Amino acid sequence: MVQMISSSLLTAIFALFLYVGHVHALDVASCNASAGFDWSYNSLSQDPCTVATYLGAVCNNGQYTIPAINSTEFYSGPTSVTQNECRCSSVFYSLLMACAQCQEASITTWTSYAQNCSTIYVGIFPDDIPSGTAVPHWATLSSAEFDATTAEAAGDSPELTGATQVTSSSTPTSSTSSVRLQEEWLEELLDLLS
Ligand SMILES: *[C@@H]1O[C@H](CO)[C@@H](O)[C@H](O)[C@H]1NC(C)=O
Ligand SMILES: *[C@@H]1O[C@H](CO)[C@@H](O)[C@H](O)[C@H]1NC(C)=O
Ligand SMILES: *[C@@H]1O[C@H](CO)[C@@H](O)[C@H](O)[C@H]1NC(C)=O
Repeated sequence: MVQMISSSLLTAIFALFLYVGHVHALDVASCNASAGFDWSYNSLSQDPCTVATYLGAVCNNGQYTIPAINSTEFYSGPTSVTQNECRCSSVFYSLLMACAQCQEASITTWTSYAQNCSTIYVGIFPDDIPSGTAVPHWATLSSAEFDATTAEAAGDSPELTGATQVTSSSTPTSSTSSVRLQEEWLEELLDLLS
């Protein structure tokens, strides 16, 4: 009896685990290939959602996720609690707006986005660019306001990179580590039940 219960409990937990993993994977923002935003990708073929994720992670212990949005939504700026020098950089903002537009969602103005920032960084990213990515030139323009036509004309080159060698092999998505956490949690649970 106990065995039967624990086996169906395990099945239920495993189904939940798969479900959570599935939902989480769908939630992460990425460009729709048919949105015509190929120009916004960097030399490592990373879309602006990916590059923005790398930059956001710098101020958040290496963990950052940009949720996917649809055509009725937009990314609002940080609150006074979540504002930090990464999110208050127009470089991050430009990447985030390109990430919104390439999902066919709406954008918000820099002025409105940055209203809760205690310090704003226009055209610069105040921290080191993390290894594994390269920031396109179009995200570093001194007119902070994002405009796709202006950005496309400005182009990708020269990119901003960190001091360390850029490689295209690293894929730092927090979904990976969150799935790993779920796996560890499941293993612990299996230990407890056996
Ligand atoms: C990408 O855009 C096309 C054309 O607007 C649309 O048909 C398709 O469903 C979109 N794909 C995703 C994954 O949103
Ligand atoms: C967009 O997403 C929101 C929140 O998930 C949802 O409530 C809304 O129905 C979605 N709109 C469309 C057009 O898919
Ligand atoms: C600024 O922060 C307040 C709460 O602290 C929030 O209600 C508002 O939406 C924020 N503004 C933006 C642009 O996110």
